[in-house]
Order: sequence, then structure tokens, then C-alpha cells
Amino acid sequence: ATAGPETAVLTATPGPLRIEDYQDLAQRRLDDQVWDFVEGGAGTERTVDANRCAFARVTLRPRVLVDVSACDTGTELLGAPLATPVGVAPTAYHRLLHPDGEVATALGAGAAGALYVVSVFASRTLEEIAAEAAGPLWLQLYWLRRREVLAGLVERATAAGYRALVLTVDAPQLGRRHRDARNGFAVPAGISAVNLDPALMASAHRSDAGRSALAVHTAEAVDPSVTWADLAWLRARSELPVVLKGILTAEDAVLAVQHGADAIVVSNHGGRQLDGAPASLDALAEVVDAVGAAGCPVLFDGGVRSGADAFAALALGARAVLLGRPVLWGLAADGAAGVAGVLGLATEELAHTMALAGRPALPAVDRSAVVLAPGPA
Ligand code: FNR
Repeated sequence: ATAGPETAVLTATPGPLRIEDYQDLAQRRLDDQVWDFVEGGAGTERTVDANRCAFARVTLRPRVLVDVSACDTGTELLGAPLATPVGVAPTAYHRLLHPDGEVATALGAGAAGALYVVSVFASRTLEEIAAEAAGPLWLQLYWLRRREVLAGLVERATAAGYRALVLTVDAPQLGRRHRDARNGFAVPAGISAVNLDPALMASAHRSDAGRSALAVHTAEAVDPSVTWADLAWLRARSELPVVLKGILTAEDAVLAVQHGADAIVVSNHGGRQLDGAPASLDALAEVVDAVGAAGCPVLFDGGVRSGADAFAALALGARAVLLGRPVLWGLAADGAAGVAGVLGLATEELAHTMALAGRPALPAVDRSAVVLAPGPA
């Protein structure tokens, strides 16, 4: 039959209905090397896979005959009110994905009322990003060998209105990311971690088959000798709260609290660092229990691809969840609108899950709302 106007309407492609629709759009737009950089993980990528598989072991326990006529996703984090507990994880070099880079991400996060954790490897300046941001910004740091550069970043972040420092503690060396090594992946000329000293960037641009420039660059820039004792140095540089990202065990959660961490992010870096580390979701309850009810807030990232996933992590004790790759898919697909689209979809799905689970506000999204079956040993 010939397609008439009605058929055309019926077969018109709808906009993104799920977060993975943005993944498809992004893949079509990105070149293979950038795609591999975004999607890839360390080693066998079994921790990347584990992050996703863990969510398939979640069962939700709905309660009924609860008034869910208004479901409130609002929360508070380190003193700032947030419209949604779904935020943006720190990821490097957003200009690889969109010409406006992190400025587009900030606009999208602001439109969604979401927290944005800016990577120290951002490709726009901290000040440019802050000028466009409508929501709270935190700055993620790696412990650089050159402490004067680190101190300068802390000062600039404070002056530009960033509200917390997030020290990533799971990357004393870069994970062995075979896709990037095979591709000889390097940061293209014209894109750079502009907040670092340009001299620190030279190795990141050197393309070399069989080697990832990022691994070489990280080895040059990041100080692998840092320990718990050094945290006092960072604390003394700024009044800003200090958040530790990349905690996966009760032991380290206790140490983090003892050393005055203002928050913790349970994360395995999206499976990009220690291959064989547990799925983030499997580590969450252990960390939350070790921190205790009176302890600091615990955030979560790793494998969240829907509002239902966010609900599960919140139920297991996370105060907020961060999205890494999904935000990059949105950014590549449609700039600021794509970022807002991904965050908005996750928040909408979260509110929907809250309604059908009979938990109309986040404090009611507690352990009684979820069962996480044990994973394979
Ligand atoms: C990251 N991540 C990361 N983390 C960090 O602390 N500093 C950084 O600069 C980066 N850069 C980065 C780049 C890319 C391309 C990805 C995919 C990830 C890790 C990130 O913050 C987060 O922990 C994970 O991405 C969360 O997992 P999902 O949501 O990607 O599954």
C-alpha cells in the first residue's frame, strides 16, 4: 500500500523515550575513537558490564493506596536545594562531544535543576562554565604533582562560586583502557584541558599507535604518592566542602569520615579504573552502613541509565546519583538541550517510579523499597 499522510504520522520517529535513545544518536554523530573513549573501560571491561548487570538484580517493593498525586524529587545536598537528585558526574573534555563543551553541559544541567560536577580536565574555563550555570557547580580534582597548580585551581573555583571540591581518589594511575591504547587515542589539537598549565597538556596531544596519550599524560600530571595524611593540605586551602569520589569499601568509608570528608561518592569510575572492582551498586549499602546515619551524605555513580535505576540507588542509601556517559550522549546528540533531555528524562522516570512504588517523597525511598539479589561471586 502507498503510505498516505496518516501512515506518515504513525511512522514518524518519536523523540528520545529512554536514555539509551541518546546513546544511539550520539554513536551516529561521533567518530569511532571518541566513541571508544566514552564507552570504553579498563582491561576486560568486566566492571563496566557489572555496573549495568547489577541493576538487573534489583526488585522494587511497591506500596499501594498511598497519595501519590504529587511526587517530589526535590532534595538538599551540602546546603544547596536541588530540584532533582540526578546530577552530572565529572567527565573530561566535553568539546570532544560538542563545540560549546562544558558551557553547553552547564546550561543543560541548569535547565534541569541538577548539580553539575565539573572535571578538572574540562575543555572550557572554570569561569566560562560558571558564567552560564544556573545550578550549583562542584569542581572535581585529581591530585596534581604540581601542588601550586592544584592550589591555584582551588582558589579560582572558590572565586568563581563553585560550592565543593570533589577529589577523585581511584585514579593514581589511569586504568589500562585497551580501546584507547589500540586507537592511539590523543586529545585532538584545538581541544585542551584549558584550566591546567599548557605545559601539562603536551603529552595529551601526542598520538602514538599502541599507546593512549591520556595514560601517559595522567602519569605525568597526577601524583600517585598521595595518602590520607595529605587531605589536610587540601582542607587548609579552602573553606569549601571536600567530597571524596571513588570509595568502594567500608574501610575507606570509615577513613573518609575520620578525615573529615563532607561527602563520599561510591564509584568505580564507570569501570574505567580497576577492572575487577565491584559493581558500584554492590558496594553502595556497605559504604552507607559504614558511614552510619549520622555520617556524611553518600552519592552514587556507575551504570545509572534510567529513573528506575536512580530509584534503586537512592533506596539503597544514596542521597544523589550522578550520570557519566548518558550526559555525554545527550551532549553529543543535541548540546545543552540533549543534556537537559537526559537529566529531565531520568527525573521524570524517577518521579514515575516513586508514584508506582508508593513513595511520593525521597525520604520514603528507603531500603524497604528495594531488594538487591546477590551478584555472581
Ligand atoms: C569519566 N569519569 C571521570 N571521573 C573523574 O573523576 N574525572 C574525570 O575527568 C572523568 N572523566 C571521565 C570521562 C569519561 C568519558 C567517562 C565515561 C567517565 C568517571 C565519571 O565521573 C563517573 O564515575 C562514571 O562515568 C559513572 O559511570 P557511568 O554513568 O558512565 O556508567
